[in-house]
Amino acid sequence: MLTDSQVNAIRSRFPIFQRKIYLNTCSQGPLSDAVESGFHDYISSWHELGSPWELWVQHYEAARTAFAQFINASPDEVAIVTSVSAGINSIASALNFRERPKVVMGEFEFPTMGHVWLGQCPRGADVQFVKADGNRIPLGHYENVIDLNTLIVALTHVCFKNGSRSDVAAVTQIAHNAGAFVMLDDYQDCGTRPIDVKAMDLDFYLAGTLKYLLGPPGLAFLYVREELIPTLSPTIHSISNSPPALVDSSQELPPSPTSTEPFQDSTFCKTSESATSPPTSSASHRPCCSQPTNSASSPTPPPTAQGP
Ligand SMILES: Cc1ncc(COP(=O)(O)O)c(C=O)c1O
Repeated sequence: MLTDSQVNAIRSRFPIFQRKIYLNTCSQGPLSDAVESGFHDYISSWHELGSPWELWVQHYEAARTAFAQFINASPDEVAIVTSVSAGINSIASALNFRERPKVVMGEFEFPTMGHVWLGQCPRGADVQFVKADGNRIPLGHYENVIDLNTLIVALTHVCFKNGSRSDVAAVTQIAHNAGAFVMLDDYQDCGTRPIDVKAMDLDFYLAGTLKYLLGPPGLAFLYVREELIPTLSPTIHSISNSPPALVDSSQELPPSPTSTEPFQDSTFCKTSESATSPPTSSASHRPCCSQPTNSASSPTPPPTAQGP
């Protein structure tokens, strides 16, 4: 528990608190002197040094490492993305819906979650929304919708419109019992308390810096569970995701998802498959690999990327 003087010392780092009671962090967090000076440092490095990529990449990697530590992941499992939506799109583009077409999410997801997955319908996705009951979505409603056809369950940790907190452990268990992936959108909670993606057994996790991480816009993080990385081949690419050998070539398709190599494969990495051919079900669809069970006494082990 912090003392009053410790709280006041922290509050003094946010100039706006001297003038306002700040209640808008769910949209955009207040600006601290630390973030402000980060902006000034960036501008002056640009002015004074031109384009000091090595320096900037050091900061980029420091951010990736710090975030990875914060969520108990390894830096290899974390991609820096420009928005949470970009991260969701990256995963959505990397999955196929042949064997398991269902994408399940509650009515309390942020709109972008629905939009991205609905955008996958022409590729075969069948998006199903779990109905709320007042300000909550009962677990039984998830159980009724999640089945063996479910590829992924998208879940918000805290609802952006009513603040309700999801029972992540229970929904994850239901999803994994059916062999489906779980993607947690933590943008409305990340920064308010410790988080452990391993203990939570998440497959994908997303958060951006603008809200309770008290950072700037244009920066977000995507966690991908290590075993899944080689199985994913996104069809969304950028030069910042390219391996060094391809930075000067437009004629080869880079491999995919997360990596620690700066400006080389920052979004997805280490894929064993070419994105030109759809991933095989055994390699790419961990959900297809496990058997369903509703038995609490003999739960199906969480699916693995490598097959049964
Ligand atoms: C819960 C949640 N998810 C996703 C988003 C979208 O984030 P981005 O603008 O980084 O795509 C927001 C933005 O407010 C949000 O609150």
